[in-house]
Amino acid sequence: MTNLKDIAFRMTGSGKGILAADESTPTCTNRFNSIGVDSTPENRNEYRDLLITANGMEKYIGGVIMFDETIRQSTTCENKIPFVEYLTKKGVVPGIKVDKGAKNLAGFENEKVTEGLDGLRERLNEYYELGARFAKWRAVIRIGDNTPSLGCYEANAHALARYAALCQESGLVPIVEPEVLMNGTHTIDKCYDVTDKALKITFEQLIKQNVSLEGMVLKPNMVISALDCAEKASVEKVADMTLKCLKANVPSEVTGIAFLSGGQSSDDATKHLNAMNAQDDNLPWNLTFSYGRALQHDALNSWGGKNRQEAQKRFLQRAKNNSLACSGVFSN
Ligand code: 13P
Repeated sequence: MTNLKDIAFRMTGSGKGILAADESTPTCTNRFNSIGVDSTPENRNEYRDLLITANGMEKYIGGVIMFDETIRQSTTCENKIPFVEYLTKKGVVPGIKVDKGAKNLAGFENEKVTEGLDGLRERLNEYYELGARFAKWRAVIRIGDNTPSLGCYEANAHALARYAALCQESGLVPIVEPEVLMNGTHTIDKCYDVTDKALKITFEQLIKQNVSLEGMVLKPNMVISALDCAEKASVEKVADMTLKCLKANVPSEVTGIAFLSGGQSSDDATKHLNAMNAQDDNLPWNLTFSYGRALQHDALNSWGGKNRQEAQKRFLQRAKNNSLACSGVFSN
């Protein structure tokens, strides 16, 4: 497993994090609609190109997660080099989202289970041949009056563990993402309890399925108040409670933990990561970012379909801020 550990380190170590640019076509279409850009394959190619070819992004970004369409596309401005080849040459690990989305969990109201295990071995082998060296699977856990149920935690954890084992068999590092959503009105304490249980059950399943912990990356939510909670927890409280929850549940063998941003503002996502790394510089795992919205929001809005240079500048600034936050030395 040395090789998988080495890849996981390249994705999350040395002050680097991951760019999540794996929005599915419908999600990408929503984002483009918000800036008045048509969601054509060409425009999606152009947008992903500006992120991937931003000059010097490799100083801050150790891996890029792509969608199936993107992993088959090429740069637009540098002699049409396949994205996978371009990233690999820059020392950035190419990755691929492989789940088929969160579907209604039969027998349970308002709960989801992520699908995509059927035929996964064959798809992973194809992505490996295309040059991917890691994969991502996202499970979704929603906090409601009577949710999550034990059935939902267990079904999602089991699927994550089956996926992770298949990835490692194919030579890919699995990003294991059990996301507790920020939607709702719940308090940070409620988020702690649910995240604690989700992580506990996920690691139980990973261990049962013989997943190598050093050859994986965990992608958790932070422990945080819900978007519509009356009381917003301070940066220090988010950092304290998130670290407490991770230390209680994530074995020290895990190479990297890379947070999702989940709907936090771009600034908050950086400040929270920074506070955690500033508080404890002796953590057993690399503690970094795997942000989608918090890295791309400014870039997408300033791009507007044409302003490429400004978009790249904004993306690089966010990437740099989060890289500094990996060492706890970011300041406004
Ligand atoms: P956000 O950072 O926008 O939550 O996206 C990360 C991601 O990859 C979700 O699966």
